[in-house]
Order: sequence, then structure tokens, then C-alpha cells
Amino acid sequence: MDKKTAYWNVDNLVDESDIYPQTRKSIVEAAELLRNNELVAFPTETVYGLGGNALADDTVEKIYAAKGRPSDNPLILHIADKEQLNDLVREVSPLASLLIEAFWPGPLTLVMPKKQGVAHRASAGLDTLAIRMPDHPLALALIRATGLPIAAPSANLSGRPSPTTARHVMEDLNGRIAGVLDGGPTGIGVESTVVDVTGNIPVILRPGGVTAEQIAEVAGNVAVDPGITSDKVAPKSPGMKYRHYAPAGEMTLVEADSQEQMIQAIIRLAEQAAAEGKKVGILAAEESASRYPEGCTVIACGQRADLHSVAHRVYDVLRTFDERGVDVIFSETFPAKGVGAAIMNRLNKAAGGKRYIC
Ligand code: TXA
Ligand code: MG
Repeated sequence: MDKKTAYWNVDNLVDESDIYPQTRKSIVEAAELLRNNELVAFPTETVYGLGGNALADDTVEKIYAAKGRPSDNPLILHIADKEQLNDLVREVSPLASLLIEAFWPGPLTLVMPKKQGVAHRASAGLDTLAIRMPDHPLALALIRATGLPIAAPSANLSGRPSPTTARHVMEDLNGRIAGVLDGGPTGIGVESTVVDVTGNIPVILRPGGVTAEQIAEVAGNVAVDPGITSDKVAPKSPGMKYRHYAPAGEMTLVEADSQEQMIQAIIRLAEQAAAEGKKVGILAAEESASRYPEGCTVIACGQRADLHSVAHRVYDVLRTFDERGVDVIFSETFPAKGVGAAIMNRLNKAAGGKRYIC
């Protein structure tokens, strides 16, 4: 798999109606590759996706191979127009319509009953299909130019933190895919919320950019798959059972009744590990980053007062710990409310569930 990976810098795109001629040319080239069943990474509002023709099983196979992804983990199909749904799903229920009206384009993936005979490989043989319409002008223009539903998992090697910049994509997939569209850093920074709408109430299978609170407001009700938070129940979404987003250093989430206790506990743990000769990383909010011992690799991950800024930074911070070669990472924890639910879900996975509770 040693390909020349094309790289288009289209950083200057503002909105879909305002596409520069050079950008248009890049989109046409990228769409041409996708139509020829090659793989192209592109930005969305959440993270970069690794796109391929969702209708061609061979192409979808190449996505799994390029990422090293377990083959029982289905992909999300990305569309640019609601009409594309007609070819993919058996029905759009009133509940699905309600959520589509409220949140598309946006970071919400809906699991719907699949039409027979389509996207067999992308759905990993399930009779449901996960679909979303991304809220990113470049992604929408690209999908529209292909005229296809585009299967796109996050454009990282399986097990690595998801990519929020084109540089992250190149780190993982250079030489393994046909091209990368660089549209600058992604906005939200964590993936879409995956919601099962095959029943009467929406069930969150993966917390993400659209919050449970927002969904409840629109649908009147929301449930969360117990497999997301419990170690004892298997999650309904195949992808949630894997230890994703893992940094190389051993990571521990530190919890306490108060912020001050949490900071004090991290200071103690960090000093102890340093005394054992370990290189220590600390994932901190900007507000408390200056509190930690010198000599530790302290990385500020947004502001506690604005959890969106934490979501925006979290994957880049996990990758930076890898670059700095830390042996252990102690991480502050954040309230699991709003987008905090997605942040804590990803941190928990990065830590392989390891917590220090004081
Ligand atoms: O924000 C996002 O959703 C990004 C960007 C690129 O759009 N994509 C993304 O894809 O995160 P991926 O492949 O990394 O995650 C897809 C998740 C997995 O957890 C998978 O198991 C779940 O969606 N999924 C896909 N199809 C499903 C289905 N039919 N039923 C339940 N879960 C499904
Ligand atoms: Mg992923």
C-alpha cells in the first residue's frame, strides 16, 4: 500500500456559495478519485473523515484495510441532500424526520432501517445503516460532486486519536490513501452523536457533538445505551466496544468531589510517578494548568468554563502526549453534561477505563 497521497490545501473556503476557483478544482479532482473508488480524506465539522464510495463493497474494504479497522465495525454514510436517503433506507420515521429537521446538516448520525441490497459492506452486514449530513461546506461540496453516499470513518489508524487536522491524517495515512483535502482544523473536535431511531424514542449509542439535552428538547425524550457507561453491558454500537483513542502513555482519569481535591491528587500522583523515574504528562484545563509541578509535561486542553473548547482540543492533546513520549498521563475530569458527555466518553476510552477516585 505505498501510494502517492495527493494533498490539496483549501484552507480558505468560507461557505459553499463562495468557493474559490482553485478550491473548486481541488474538489473536482478529489471527487473524481472518489468516483474511481479511491479513498480521500476530508474535513467535517467534527473530525476528518476517510471517504470512499459507500455503494462499492471493494472500496469499503479498502477503507477497513487502510485504517486497520476491525471488520465488524460498520461505517457512517455521509450525504449532502436528504433525497439521497430514499435509495438507502426503508423508511424515514416521524422521529427520524423530527431530528433531521432539527439537526441536519450537523453532528448527528441516525441509525435507520437499511434498504435490502445496498451498502452491505459499509453496514458490516447489519440490517440498519448509520447516516449523517455533515455541516461543513467542503464536505458537502465534495459529496455533492461525487453524486454518491460517502462512507467515512474518522481518518485515523484504528486505535489512534481521531484526526482534527490534515496533519493528523497525514501522520496516520500518508501513502495508504489517494488524497487529503486540507480545510483547516475541524470545529467541534469530537465525533457526531450516533442515535438509534428505529424505535419510538431516540437512543444515544455514542455521545457526540449534539447533546442528549438538545435531542430531548426536540424529541421530548431520550435514552442512553447503558453499554456506553457500564463495563458489564455490551454496547449496542459495535464501535463502542473497542479501546479507541489510546495514547501510548498509560492514562489515568482523576476524580474527586471538588476541583481543588482533584488538582491536589494529580500533584501527588505526578510527584510519585516522577520519583519513580517516569516521564509524566498532565492533561489540564487552562484554568489550572499552572498549578502542576515543573518538569511535568502539562498540556492545556481548553477552558473548563467552556467545554466546547475542551472538545475542540482533546484529540490533538492526546496526540501531543505521544509526540512528547510521556510514560504516564494524569488527566483532569470534566462534568459529563452537554458536550462534556462526549469528552468524558473519549477520555475514558483513551484511559482504557482507568480511574483514580479520591
Ligand atoms: O463525526 C463523525 O461521526 C465522524 C465524521 C468523519 O463524520 N465519523 C466517525 O465514524 O466517527 P467512525 O466510523 O469512526 O464511527 C462510526 C460509529 C462506530 O461507533 C460504529 O460502530 C457506529 O458508528 N455505527 C455505524 N453503523 C452503525 C449501525 N448500523 N448501528 C449501530 N452503530 C453503528
Ligand atoms: Mg473513529
